[in-house]
Amino acid sequence: MPMNAPSDPSPRRASPRGFAIPQPLIRWVGLLFIPWLSALAASGSSPGPTPADPPWLSPAAILATPDGRTLYVACATGHKVLAYDPATRQVTRTLTTVAPPTGLALSPDGHRLYVTCASPASEVTVYDVPAGTVAFRIAAGHTAMSPVPTPDGKSLFVCNRFNNDVSLIDLRSHKEIRRIPVLREPVAAAITPDGRHLLVANLLHAGRADADVVAASVTVIDAATGAVIKQLALPSGSGALQDIRISPDGRHAVVSHILARFYLPTTQLERGWMNTNAETIIDLQDLSVLNTVLLDDVDSGASNPWGIAWSPDGRTQVVTHAGTHEISIIDFPALLAKLAKLPVTPQPGRDSDTTAASRVRADVPNDLAFLRDVRRRVKLPDADHGPRMVAFAGNQIITANYFSDSLTVIGLSNSYPYSTSLPLGPAPIPTPARKGEAYFNDATICFQTWQSCATCHPGDARVDALNWDLLNDGIGNPKNNKNLLLAHRTPPAMSLGIRDTAEVAVRAGIRHSLFTVQPEEVATSIDEYLKSLQPVPSPYLKNGKISPAAKRGKRIFDDPRVACASCHPQGLFTDLSPHDVGTRGKFDAPTDRFDTPTLIEVWRTAPYLHDGSAASMREVFSGHNPSDRHGQTSHLSKSELDDLVAYVLSL
Ligand code: HEC
Ligand code: HEC
Repeated sequence: MPMNAPSDPSPRRASPRGFAIPQPLIRWVGLLFIPWLSALAASGSSPGPTPADPPWLSPAAILATPDGRTLYVACATGHKVLAYDPATRQVTRTLTTVAPPTGLALSPDGHRLYVTCASPASEVTVYDVPAGTVAFRIAAGHTAMSPVPTPDGKSLFVCNRFNNDVSLIDLRSHKEIRRIPVLREPVAAAITPDGRHLLVANLLHAGRADADVVAASVTVIDAATGAVIKQLALPSGSGALQDIRISPDGRHAVVSHILARFYLPTTQLERGWMNTNAETIIDLQDLSVLNTVLLDDVDSGASNPWGIAWSPDGRTQVVTHAGTHEISIIDFPALLAKLAKLPVTPQPGRDSDTTAASRVRADVPNDLAFLRDVRRRVKLPDADHGPRMVAFAGNQIITANYFSDSLTVIGLSNSYPYSTSLPLGPAPIPTPARKGEAYFNDATICFQTWQSCATCHPGDARVDALNWDLLNDGIGNPKNNKNLLLAHRTPPAMSLGIRDTAEVAVRAGIRHSLFTVQPEEVATSIDEYLKSLQPVPSPYLKNGKISPAAKRGKRIFDDPRVACASCHPQGLFTDLSPHDVGTRGKFDAPTDRFDTPTLIEVWRTAPYLHDGSAASMREVFSGHNPSDRHGQTSHLSKSELDDLVAYVLSL
């Protein structure tokens, strides 16, 4: 299958897990390290990395100039954007950033580089490309991502992930002119070439989890007016949308995502029983979902689809597999033709395509062989680990590999693709926590590579907002997913406290969710990773402080008559004990009592309660607490309830 190009002077060797071993460092110190250092020295006066910053770069976004001669690589933990010359394999310039850079875009004339720098009060840094200086800085919302300039160059859209909205920025006044609400955690956006429509990928669905149809959506916005025209729901089970890109001819958009089979008991992984990996094609002529195709093969998952890119001629569409360290190279016209051949309803007597199991269009999202003859699935070199975003530079595909601080160049010039690994800097020795993060995101440790821990716990080990019928507490009683942020500090684990500690739950996850046996080092590294997670400040805070409404809500929360603090005391906001708070549902046993969850970061983990039956924080107390067993709330007025909700959402 894929090969390193024979001419590659410096392929980085790696351990089987893809972590570079320091031994070849000396060799490539001469090749790359020195230009990299000198570029750093020349990087100007913007604030540089602090000693607390980790030594690795974590490339999270990549962009190629139209001539393919320069690549910009946003290095999230490295707090820098590298300009990289693929011809000489050298970093030609280093731009340090004020916060982790999450997204990159060039102005239509190529003179400005927009970099979203994510923090609770994000900044879009605008670089003057010819001068190599910061032209101006624009304030955006919480965790800005995916900057998208309009084709006329006059405005810029930016996703504010944790505000659940999109900023429209006027590039003449450098000011945000409006906020456009979307659904939940917008992480990627793309604009049609005619500038009419902005499509926004919402990471997660925003409803309750115990419904029949549970799916994340793509929001379509009229770019001129800022009005939301449509929410395009993907098939039920869709979530963890990571990227959306529009074909050069403006006719189609493709969005990468997980397609979870959350309604089945989690007894096996075979044939994508639990999670499949997919992309959905959107027809931009009528703004509708054309179909969803699975990227997996029958006996091998293509886990964690992430970045998407198109060749300039629109014939080749690629998608990375961050969990299996691969890319899929898709013949897009052939895929469209194959989809077009399928009828909507069965047509007896009509010739059917024997290369696929699908007989009608609706079969396609369940067909693990549909892409068989229209895509090549290419494994990256062993050194390259965690490809996320991807770009075309001329006719070469370049992936940015999050965990190996490297790029992969995949050439398409021959009939057979070749790939080469290009390290971006010295290979730092990973700490156990960093190794754990890589394992957590790695589907190659899973049976048939169907899923990683991150498949169900996306967004840095948080939630997929789905209910899963894990077997640890018996069958037939699905539970809403849990944030792993404080799992190690809030024993026991799982809603029913079925695992004494998070350590036990991690090992059970490896065995019963990934269906594998791994060395203890894998589990201890994942423990270290999960313990290292830090809460993200709530978007309901104003300048880091709780609002006046939340202050009033705190008094209600602490009031002994309301009693929240008796079970959710200050600190971790849990008494670490099980209670019956009247939330049992039809699938629960009469004796079930639920472990009191922490309320820290609860603003980002909807839907709520062990069965995900409360879509919003308000519902926890308005529909789900009829007998006042979950705190005394029935006497609270509407505005007191608003205040209480405002407080809890600020934690
Ligand atoms: C199929 C989806 C799925 C996969 C894959 C998965 N988890 Fe989970 N995980 C869940 C759900 C659902 C829960 C909550 C279950 C409950 O409350 O009973 C959970 C709970 C946990 C908890 C307990 C959190 C707490 O505070 O109670 C830990 C720890 C955990 N998972 C770790 C992992 C690790 C590590 C992996 C990978 C080895 C993993 N999970 C893979 C769905 C998944
Ligand atoms: C008797 C103990 C107890 C009291 C009192 C109590 N809680 Fe809870 N709380 C729990 C338990 C147990 C759960 C889990 C219930 C479930 O999963 O079905 C929970 C769940 C929650 C959740 C959902 C969290 C999630 O991640 O799904 C929120 C929010 C919450 N409580 C806030 C409050 C507030 C606000 C009050 C006061 C009005 C309060 N609780 C009073 C024990 C308590």
